[in-house]
Amino acid sequence: MRRILLSLSFMVAILAVRGTAQETAHLSLDASKAGAKIDRNLFGQFAENLGHGLYEGIWVGPDSTIPNTRGIRKDVVTALQALKVPNVRWPGGCFADQYHWRKGVGPAAQRPATLNSAWGGVVDSNSFGTDEFMDFIQQIGSEAYVSVNVGSGTPQEASEWLEYMTAAAPTALAKERAANGHPAPYTVGFMGIGNESWSCGGDMTADYYLSQLKIYSRFVNNDNPAQTGPSKMLKIAVGPGFPETEWTEAVMKAWQHHDWSWDFDGLSLHWYTTANGWPVSTPSTGFGVEDYGKTLKSTLFMDEFLRKQETVMDKYDPQKKVALVVDEWGAWHAPLPGTNKDCLVQQNSLRDAILASLNLNIFARHADRVRMANIAQMINVLQAMILTDKEKMVLTPTYYVYRMYLPFQDATFVPVDFDPGTVHRDGITLPRVDALAARDASGKLWLEITNLDPEKPVDIDAEITGMAVKSAKGEILTAPAVDSVNTFAVPNSVVPKPVSAKVKNGRLALTVEPKSVTVISLEP
Ligand code: AHR
Repeated sequence: MRRILLSLSFMVAILAVRGTAQETAHLSLDASKAGAKIDRNLFGQFAENLGHGLYEGIWVGPDSTIPNTRGIRKDVVTALQALKVPNVRWPGGCFADQYHWRKGVGPAAQRPATLNSAWGGVVDSNSFGTDEFMDFIQQIGSEAYVSVNVGSGTPQEASEWLEYMTAAAPTALAKERAANGHPAPYTVGFMGIGNESWSCGGDMTADYYLSQLKIYSRFVNNDNPAQTGPSKMLKIAVGPGFPETEWTEAVMKAWQHHDWSWDFDGLSLHWYTTANGWPVSTPSTGFGVEDYGKTLKSTLFMDEFLRKQETVMDKYDPQKKVALVVDEWGAWHAPLPGTNKDCLVQQNSLRDAILASLNLNIFARHADRVRMANIAQMINVLQAMILTDKEKMVLTPTYYVYRMYLPFQDATFVPVDFDPGTVHRDGITLPRVDALAARDASGKLWLEITNLDPEKPVDIDAEITGMAVKSAKGEILTAPAVDSVNTFAVPNSVVPKPVSAKVKNGRLALTVEPKSVTVISLEP
């Protein structure tokens, strides 16, 4: 009997050890192999006139008790400066195709109140207009990506808007801008020609949109004399928002035969992560591992989506002159209970941070074609970087991913060989790990590892050649639960912490915790 009990306890001990046994992922990378540049514009953001994204999130007005610079809140500006946001897309989204820029310039008291019919029919004071947007962009050190109104505007209206923003010569519109306090022309880095023209932008056929695109491309131009050559404004055409490729076929085929009179530099692509499809139903807090798995599974579709569209683009543009611009992406969860459904307010959890890293890694692997992306959206809307409530502000887990990824901006992609392994749970199979490596301008090597496994840590064993690595240090972002969030009351539940990593004989060893994002710098 004693022997049976002893062998039983031995088996239990073995099972216990097996249950917690660590997984190991073997990676290898040759730091001397250089891929495409990971364009810093992949870390762009999107700020639409929607809910509290602009009003309250950015704009509180000069008379607010919330500390501000010319009406723009200081806490938000300081937080965004730290992210080196390369570009901000504004004013929409669906809102762009109903926006008439003239209503948002000039003395605040004279601006008309309008209805935001794209998002809940709320009254818009128009106090955040072109000059306020440009002020915001300059305060955070970013570049403007404006979407012009094709759906309910005219080429003339859009052309005059560009002239207002960019003309240096003393035209009437340049003088008007000067009278509004801005004598020097603004820089506009990117111009989107319409938004989702196959749906909220006017429900156009591809052929109808193409006829508009050609006209806008021909007549809506940047007049800033400094924006020539490499700093010319890039024009971005509406692209797909669904996996089918007919729209891309039509637009790219036309582009292949374009003459001198029209052109575009980028094709937009929109894809949101909605774990249960539309209408969205996945909660942004209080969910479990099953919802976590479904959401990550759904987000990984981005890779296949890009491949499909790239195959068509490669057919008509083998030299990859036209960039694929993923100017709306991110998690779209159910609105937070108690909020106005038209404001698209959701919390942002560790799950969203992991989802962000997976998408950024996908974009980096497609960097030869995908050269710009804008997460939706910057503040208080969808997968936000920042949440505000009147004077309060909190940084989300997604914010910290963007901060951890700073070294990847404009770094050179280095391919990583690895077997991602698999995690099976609730009928869903996910890769266990994901990895991204790049070299920055100073020659430093950076390695990112995402551990998707919600329960098990993973030992990383990375063989590094092509560079003599002497030391490694880094940060890990994780939290007790997949739905851990930062709140105004408890803002530091999901924040990066230092992680220890060892380097010996060209091998890097570290353990990455379950459900985590880790970025390591490897120093020569
Ligand atoms: O980001 C919210 C909305 O999603 C945008 O306005 C629209 O372009 C997309 O459908």
